[in-house]
Formats: sequence, structure tokens, C-alpha cells
Amino acid sequence: MTTAVDFVRAPHPAPTTAERRAEILAAPGFGRYLTDHMVSIDYTRDGGWGPGRVEPYAPITLDPAAMVLHYGQAIFEGLKAYRQPDGSIASFRIDANARRLQRSAQRIAMPELPTELFVESVRQLLAVDHAWVPAAGGEDSLYLRPFMFATEAGLGVRPAGNYRYLLIASPAGAYFPRGVKPVRVWLSTEYVRAAPGGTGAAKFAGNYAASLVAQAQAAEEGCDQVVWLDAIEHRYVEEMGGMNLFFVFGAGAQAKLVTPELSGALLPGITRDSLLTLAADSGIAIEERRIGTDEWRSKASSGEITEVFACGTAAVITPVGAVCSADGEFTIADGEPGEVTMALRDTLTGIQRGTFADTHGWVTRL
Ligand code: PLP
Ligand code: COI
Repeated sequence: MTTAVDFVRAPHPAPTTAERRAEILAAPGFGRYLTDHMVSIDYTRDGGWGPGRVEPYAPITLDPAAMVLHYGQAIFEGLKAYRQPDGSIASFRIDANARRLQRSAQRIAMPELPTELFVESVRQLLAVDHAWVPAAGGEDSLYLRPFMFATEAGLGVRPAGNYRYLLIASPAGAYFPRGVKPVRVWLSTEYVRAAPGGTGAAKFAGNYAASLVAQAQAAEEGCDQVVWLDAIEHRYVEEMGGMNLFFVFGAGAQAKLVTPELSGALLPGITRDSLLTLAADSGIAIEERRIGTDEWRSKASSGEITEVFACGTAAVITPVGAVCSADGEFTIADGEPGEVTMALRDTLTGIQRGTFADTHGWVTRL
């Protein structure tokens, strides 16, 4: 395959042994182990995107005045490589991740990495680290983390001229230690993640830094995750720390799926978008609209809201069982994973893992 930019490959002097890799893949956790290589591409104001390098995974050097360390120009993506039943490797909606990185770059005044380079960086990494993709037939995958940051040295506040794009990878099991067991969530009324006109729709590192204190508060309250509410009225549900939210109203043929509309303050999740399509395919009514915490509480209590789940690349689909806030706690139905949640989960993961037909052209062999 020809690419606009060539990739050079530096051999690894001491890659992980097959025995050690097997030990890691037996219980990878999430984000704990990194593969042997990384891909690196530099951008300069004058030269644009330079050659890609496939290198041994290693620490990098940065000038202490590198602008990312001061003014925070850093964005990232998250996608997965899935082992297919025939042993090949595939990604899911990789073009959508490339486009979202470009939109994040626009918002943070950074240069856009062309889609072709994004896709080729993933191919190049998998060409050397394919043995790190967990076996087919289970829940594990290889999590890919492309990211970009400002490298130019200088203390003036302005968009940097030089950047680095890096791609690293980490074998991934369940994001939550308890797997698909329902999580408890904390409604954050004290802290806000994103405001209208802000950076909430970008996958911008600062959004995650700003969320950590609320996540710590949620943990103190015995919860797994924060649910972010709108910045103005602190009333409308937006999303979770690294996931979008869905509400199932009713059951069986009457089931309807409601998810917060893309207000500009929440991340347009690729899993969210895929589930809206899959639900429509299977005849489930869908609504993208505002949903308030008062509606959530009252309709969960009356039984009208029958299931709630969170979705994202890392978390896949995770049921929400209980909701806590300063006003007390309520549960969703019996607090167990619901039928619609698990059916959508099976369809989505089946497409990703090559056991269900990919009728939307979402899967790319790498
Ligand atoms: N919301 C936030 C804040 C996220 O970080 C993520 C994860 O990427 C999502 C939602 C879900 O997005 P996706 O389904 O594209 O992974
Ligand atoms: C993802 O699902 O890819 C995320 O980025 C969520 C989280 C790990 C930040």
C-alpha cells in the first residue's frame, strides 16, 4: 500500500518474550501494560507532517518549555483492534476516530492529521505488534491510543508551531474490574465537566484532568463513575467520565431508547452513534433529547425507565444499576443488567469480533 508519508521501522533490541506476553494477555486489566512498539510522526509549521517512525516503546524527551506542559495542547483518541475468528485483526469505525481527532485538533488550534496517516499508523503498529492482540472468542482486545501534543518550546500563549503524534497500544480486558456487572454512578452537582462554547465535544486531555476531583468525590461516595450534568442548570444529564449514557423506556416491542442530544458539551461517542444505528435497525424507537435528573429519578421509580447503560470504546456497554447524589440513592429496576442492554451489547461486540454480519461497513481488516 502506498502512503503520502513513508514509515521507517527501527528494530526492537529486546522485545517482550512470548512467555511474558502470554502471562500479560492472560489477565491484561486496562491500560496496565504497553506493547513493544510505538509510532511517532512529527509536525512542523514549515514542513507539515514528516516521516512516520515505528520505534521500540520508550520514554521520550521534551524541552521543559514544550508548550503542552504549560498551556495544555493535548488531544487523544481511543479505538480497539479485535482478533477475528479466522485469526486476522480488524478495527471498528477507524475513519470515525480519525475524523474525531481532526475535529479535536480544530478546537484546540492544532494541525489535523490526515485520515490516511492515522489509518496507516495503526496498520504499521499492528504489523510489528500483532502478537499482542488477544485471542478471538473472549472479551479482550488491543486498545489503541493515538494522541498528539505541542512540542514547540516557548512561553508565549499562542498555538504551538510544532507537534508530535504518537500511537501506543495496550492489551485490554474489562474497563471496570467487575466486568459487565452494573455500576453505581454519582450525579455531580458541585463540579461541571464542560460548558457551552467550551471543549466538551473534543477529546481534549484537559477535560479529563478537570474531571478527576469529581471522580475522587464519586469514589468517596462509594460510586464507580461520575455522571456529568449541564453547566447552566445542573439538571440535564450529559455523559459519564469516559462514556455516553442511554436510557431504556418500557420493554419488549415497546422499548424506546433515549440518549442525551449532542449539546456541544458532550463527546460524540462512536459507540453511541453505532448503537443508535443498531437500535434503529432492530426496530427500537430512538430519541436524542434532553433528559433531566428529575425525570430519571421519577421514571426509574415508577418503572417507566427499565434499564440504563453507559457505552464507550473502553467500557463497551456497561449497565448502570444505582444512582447516588446529595439527595440520596435510587436503583434502576432490580439493579441487574437488562435485556435491551445485553442484546445491543451482543450485536455490537459480535460485529466488532466478526461473529455478526457487518452490514454498515464498519469493520476494517488491518
Ligand atoms: N465520552 C467521553 C468523555 C469519552 O472519553 C468517551 C470515550 O472515548 C466516550 C464518551 C465514548 O466515546 P467512544 O464511543 O467513541 O469511545
Ligand atoms: C475510550 O473509551 O477510548 C476512552 O477514551 C475512555 C477513557 C479510557 C478515557
